[in-house]
Amino acid sequence: MLEKPGPERKRFPVLQKIRVKASLYVLVLLISTTLAFSIIALRIMNQYILSEVIKRVETLSRGTAAVAGYSLMSNDLLGLDNIVYRVKATNPDIESMAIINPEGEILVHSDTRRAGETHRPAAGDVLRKAEDGTTVSEVQGPARELYEIQTPIVFLDKAVGSVIMTFNKAVVNEAQQAARSRILGVFGLLLLVGVASSVFLTAFLTKPVQELSKGVADLKEGRRSRPLRVYSQDELGRLTESFNEMTALITSQKNSLSRYAQDLEEAYVSTVRVLAAAIDARDTHTLGHSTRVAGLSVELGRELDLSAPELEDLEIACLFHDVGKIKIPDSILQKKGRLTTAEQREMRRHPEYGAEILAKAPSLLKYIPAVKYHHEWFDGTGYPDGLSGGKIPKAAAIISLADVYDAMTSDRPYRDALSEEEARAEIAALAGRQFEPDLAARFILLLQKRAAALIKGHGE
Ligand SMILES: [Fe+2]
Repeated sequence: MLEKPGPERKRFPVLQKIRVKASLYVLVLLISTTLAFSIIALRIMNQYILSEVIKRVETLSRGTAAVAGYSLMSNDLLGLDNIVYRVKATNPDIESMAIINPEGEILVHSDTRRAGETHRPAAGDVLRKAEDGTTVSEVQGPARELYEIQTPIVFLDKAVGSVIMTFNKAVVNEAQQAARSRILGVFGLLLLVGVASSVFLTAFLTKPVQELSKGVADLKEGRRSRPLRVYSQDELGRLTESFNEMTALITSQKNSLSRYAQDLEEAYVSTVRVLAAAIDARDTHTLGHSTRVAGLSVELGRELDLSAPELEDLEIACLFHDVGKIKIPDSILQKKGRLTTAEQREMRRHPEYGAEILAKAPSLLKYIPAVKYHHEWFDGTGYPDGLSGGKIPKAAAIISLADVYDAMTSDRPYRDALSEEEARAEIAALAGRQFEPDLAARFILLLQKRAAALIKGHGE
């Protein structure tokens, strides 16, 4: 199963990139620096080791030349051989050692078979030559690489021969290898510490940026957040302080704005309420109509077990249900005779006009379905959209019943009011056509209960 990305990772991808970039940058810098220092340190160390080994062999060669003079002058070959043997035995890194006479004849050699041979001068580069005549040469042999140190043997200011020592570069290489391992180990450790520090440092440095980023995201999404913590007094700290001030300003302006918007909306709602009441008061026949429709509708709503908020919305929707009539001219609204087809068409637009008025305030939007469809018929022959059956909103169906009943039982310019009983019969007759049958039945039952309660009240 794939693991979902964490919310922090998802919300701050840019920050993750900054952190990765910073870590990578520090890492590359660390590795290249460590590598450069390692190479430089190794070179210096190699040079140092070579120089020390050469110095030691030079000293050994000079020491040998100093003690060999007497034996050479007295032609004591056994003494010379003894010297060579002892020096070679106590310095295993010396590859070979010989003492030659001024003519180049090998008098004694650590390899005794070579005694009597003629010494061939080294065919390599002379690395240096000291004042006492000691020379250091680099010999490039076919199979191995050697260094040759030659020191003249001087007796009573006269050169009587030379001491020749060779040592293999491999000796230096071994020492260099050991030093290299140690240096690389130390630098590796330094690199590890550096990497760990860089990861910690970038996390520490990006923390304030992360806070800022979170603050900006919160502000963008409209979540109120506490002022951000100021971690330092540098540019980032000042930026955080500025952000906190800006957030406070935006929040206060937003609050003022929403307060103004609320006031404006309340004023509009009040205006619509006044308008609705004014419509009812426009002529004596409809005075109090909306209030009576509201009372009846809420009673029916209660019978249908609507919740308290639903009943409250239903009551307000009733008060607004004919508000669209404000756009219908008096010549139509208060006409004594029958309306012409055109007048009737205009009259039938009042639910849509009502919906348009309510659409202007967000808090009134929820009343639109009830207002717009309170003249729809169950069989689909009503207006404005010809909705039928269950498509008619319940609140609209309830208002429709109460509205028709109140109109029937009120005097109109063109006819007298029906009695309650007659109105009930009319509604029963229209059930299934204009009204939803079950709802109409519940309404008739309610009216009967009301009538019975009224008679009982009069009787008492
Ligand atoms: Fe109406």
